[in-house]
Amino acid sequence: MGLNVQKLDVSVPAVAASSYPITIGQRILGGLWPQIKDQWPGHTPFIVTDAELVKAGHIDTLTGAEDIPMYVIDPAGEVSKHIQTVVAIVEMMEQQSFGRDTIIIALGGGTVGDIAGFAAAIFKRGIPVVQIPTTTVAQADSSVGGKTGVDSSVSKNAFGAFWQPAAVYIDVATLATLDDRQYRAGLGESVKHAAIRDKEYFEFFETNIQAICDRDMSVLEQIAYKNCRIKADVVEEDPQEKNLRRILNYGHTIGHAVESASGFELLHGECVGIGMIAAGKIEQAMGLVADDRLERIKAILGQLGLPTKIPAVITKNQIIDLLRKDKKAVGKWPRFVLLESLGKTLCRDGQWAHEVIQDVVEKCLDEMY
Ligand code: GLY
Repeated sequence: MGLNVQKLDVSVPAVAASSYPITIGQRILGGLWPQIKDQWPGHTPFIVTDAELVKAGHIDTLTGAEDIPMYVIDPAGEVSKHIQTVVAIVEMMEQQSFGRDTIIIALGGGTVGDIAGFAAAIFKRGIPVVQIPTTTVAQADSSVGGKTGVDSSVSKNAFGAFWQPAAVYIDVATLATLDDRQYRAGLGESVKHAAIRDKEYFEFFETNIQAICDRDMSVLEQIAYKNCRIKADVVEEDPQEKNLRRILNYGHTIGHAVESASGFELLHGECVGIGMIAAGKIEQAMGLVADDRLERIKAILGQLGLPTKIPAVITKNQIIDLLRKDKKAVGKWPRFVLLESLGKTLCRDGQWAHEVIQDVVEKCLDEMY
């Protein structure tokens, strides 16, 4: 540094707290458009959705076949969750002269919500986004809490921003036509919410498992409410994942590694299920288990038809390698969220994610085949 430096401080006022409503119901999609237009009168809507949603007729249900400018992500799914899709959305809005008064309406699953939310976060330095999730994974988790982003060629969600939605509308009736594998996989995130925060909710899941598998709408409405309540409580306390919000990553550390190693052949919720069982084994190995939670979590995942083992084509070394690259790794090794009991996450010294030595993780992974 030179001798004659000058310094000054810039004080930026804290961003005012904001809140957004979550509306949950059955068959509400058809009545939303006038509500959205009334609620954001000075805004021009731009829809982001995907090819499957268009095919399922949900776009027409939402807009009443009104001709609204939109970007249709095609192909649907994780394969399109990259920065080029965001560039295409932003450039389409620019070419069509959309400005800062635009509101993005994200209609779809987790991939649509993540991409559309990220486009909203960066378009002209940020515009509002309304999330209308249509899958179990998006209704339980990704539409609430403001995590947005896309994958790089190296890792998941490498480009991203916290960008809270302006509102979330959950129509559980959209789950009626969801492909069975996707439907069941997304419920893995609901099991996670129950496991980390609410034993009664876990018991509700156990008691109602048949109704859940049969897609009983009133049970699904109750599940959506419980998921959003748990997620909102955590996010309100720690919106930017400095500490408490890490508990929402239960099962995700090993889960993400398995998901990447499978080349995204396995669905996110399926991998979260595998990751929760691996975390349970770590808890056992660390002497933290005095109840039957692992058996109960495994039983629920089994009843949902979710995998409880790592497929043999994925090697332990692949997983270890990916764990070292985990974006939350400290010193090239991640910390793990662990349970204290069913419905309660372990907190030690005020921390919600814990050191686990590699040996223990490796031994537990060996038991996952
Ligand atoms: N899906 C974890 C979180 O929103 O923090």
